[in-house]
Amino acid sequence: MSRQFDVLVIGGGPGGYVGAIRAAQLGFNVACCESNPYADPKGEPRLGGTCLNVGCIPSKALLHTSHLFEEAGHGFAAQGISVGTPKIDIPTMVGRKNTIVNQLTGGIKGLFKKNKVTLLNGHGSFVAQSEGGWQVKVGEEVVEAKNVIIATGSKARHLPGVLVDNKIVCDNEGALDIDAVPKKLAIIGAGVIGLEMGSVWRRLGSEVTILEALPEFLSVADVDVAKEAAKVFAKQGLNIQLGVTIGEVKASKKGVSLAYTDKDGKELKLDADRLIVSVGRIPNTDGLNAEAVGLKLDERGRVDVDSHCRTNLPGVWAVGDVVTGPMLAHKAMEEAVMVAELMDGQSAHCNFDTIPWVLYTSPEIAWVGKTEQQLKADGVAYKVGKIPFAANGRALGMGDTTGFVKMLADAQSDRILGMHVIGANASELISEGVVAMEFGAASEDLARICHAHPTLSEVVHEAALACDKRPLHF
Ligand code: FAD
Ligand code: NAI
Repeated sequence: MSRQFDVLVIGGGPGGYVGAIRAAQLGFNVACCESNPYADPKGEPRLGGTCLNVGCIPSKALLHTSHLFEEAGHGFAAQGISVGTPKIDIPTMVGRKNTIVNQLTGGIKGLFKKNKVTLLNGHGSFVAQSEGGWQVKVGEEVVEAKNVIIATGSKARHLPGVLVDNKIVCDNEGALDIDAVPKKLAIIGAGVIGLEMGSVWRRLGSEVTILEALPEFLSVADVDVAKEAAKVFAKQGLNIQLGVTIGEVKASKKGVSLAYTDKDGKELKLDADRLIVSVGRIPNTDGLNAEAVGLKLDERGRVDVDSHCRTNLPGVWAVGDVVTGPMLAHKAMEEAVMVAELMDGQSAHCNFDTIPWVLYTSPEIAWVGKTEQQLKADGVAYKVGKIPFAANGRALGMGDTTGFVKMLADAQSDRILGMHVIGANASELISEGVVAMEFGAASEDLARICHAHPTLSEVVHEAALACDKRPLHF
C-alpha cells in the first residue's frame, strides 16, 4: 500500500516549503517532494527553490559585495577615508554567496524536521485521482494525498537560437557564478534581473550594455521613478538601449557577437565577453502529467487558479510562480499560507493589491499599490506627495541623497493608493506603505504618526504631509 499523506506539496521553493510548514503547524501529515535540479554534493534534494539557490538570496549577496566594492572605490574618499584602489577576488565573493545559500537551504531542511514534514527526493507527477485523494508518483514511489499543493515555480525563458551554456551565455543561474569580471558584458532584457546583475558587474568594473525590446524603460514602475532610475543608471555608466530587436547571436569560447537593430532601425553589432539573457520566466508545468488528470492550464501555460489558489481539480491547489501574478518569493509564501489555512477550514485570503516590489539596485527601487499612470488610466482623482531624500538630514549624513518618496492618495477619501520609493533603503521603507495600505490608512494617518529623527522614514512622513500640501521640511 502506498504511503498516505494529508497534504503533498510538489516543489520545495518559497511557495512549497512555506505551504508545507504552515500545513504541518496546523496538524496535517505533510510531505514535500523536490526534484533537485541544483548541484548538491551529496545528491540530496536541495530546498529553497529558485529563490534560495539561484535567485533572491545569491543575487542579493553579490549585490551587497559589489556595493561595498563600489563604496570603497568611489564613496569613501568623500568622507575622508582612503583605502587605495580596492581589488575584488571573485572566487571569494562567489564562495561567500555559496556559503549563504548552503546555510539557508540546509536551514529549511532543519525546519522540515522540526515541523515533521516528510521530505521526498524526486520529481512529482500526477498518476490519477483515487479514493484517498490523489496518487502522485515521486521518483519510483507512488504516494497518496488528500490535498496536493503544486508549487513547481518557474525557469528562465530562453530566446530561440541563443544557446545558454551558463558559461559564456548565461541565464540567471550562470549569471550568479561568473568566475571573472567580464571586460564587456551584454545583457538582453532590462527587467529586474538585467538591472540587478548589470549593477553587480558594472560596479566590479565591467562595461555593461543592456538591450531592451520595449521602447519605454521600466514601464512597470511609476513614471517618475522610471525617469529618475534611467537618469541615475545612465550616470553610473549602465548603457541601456531601448526599442531594440535582437538578431543573430554567435557565441564562442572567447565571447559573443550579437547583431541587433536599434530603435531607429539601424543595424548594429555588439561584441562582449559574456552575455546574460534575462527576458522573463516560464512556469514549470512540464512533467506534472497535467493532461492525464485534466489539470487546467491558462493561456500562458500557468496552472489556472481562482483568487484562492484553487485549481479545477478538487483538493488540488497551486501557488507561486507557477500561477498568475507577480513572480515574487513573498507572493508565493503568502499564497501558500492562505492555502494551508483554507485547507484547515479557516477564512484566509491574500491581498494582491498590497504586494510590494523591490529592485535591489543602487538606488533601491520599491513600490506598492497603484502607479500614477495606472490611476490616470483608471480615471481616479488622486493627490500626490513627493519629497526628495536630499531634504533629509539622515540621507545627507549617509552621503546618499538620490531619489524621493512619492505617495498617491485618493483625492476624496485620502486613502493611500500607492507608495513609490527610489533611494537608499527603499526595500525597508516600503513596508510602512504596505502596512498603511493593508489597514486602509489615509495619508493623514501617516502624517499624524511620530517618525524617529533622524531617519530616512521621515521622508515617508513628509510625503504623507505633502499629500495635504503641508510638508514641514521641504
Ligand atoms: P521556485 O522557487 O521556482 O521553486 C519551485 C521548486 O519546485 C524548485 O525547487 C523546483 O526544483 C521544484 N520542482 C519543479 N517541478 C517539480 C516537480 N514536478 N516535482 C518536484 N519538484 C519540482 N523574488 C523576490 O521576491 N525577491 C527577490 O529579490 C528575487 N530575486 C530573484 C533573483 C533572481 C535571479 C531570480 C531568478 C528570481 C528572483 N526572485 C525574487 C523570484 C523568486 O525567486 C521566485 O518568485 C520564487 O522563487 C518563486 O517561488 P516558488 O516556490 O513559486 O518557485
Ligand atoms: P522581467 O520580466 O523583469 O524582465 C524581462 C525584460 O526583458 C522585459 O523588460 C522585457 O521587455 C525584456 N525582453 C523580453 N524579450 C526580449 C527580447 N527578445 N529582447 C530584448 N528584451 C526582451 O524578467 P527577468 O528580469 O528575467 O526576471 C524574471 C522575474 O524574476 C522577474 O519578473 C521577477 O518576477 C523575478 N525577479 C525578482 C527580483 C526582485 O524581486 N528583486 C529580482 C530578479 C528577478
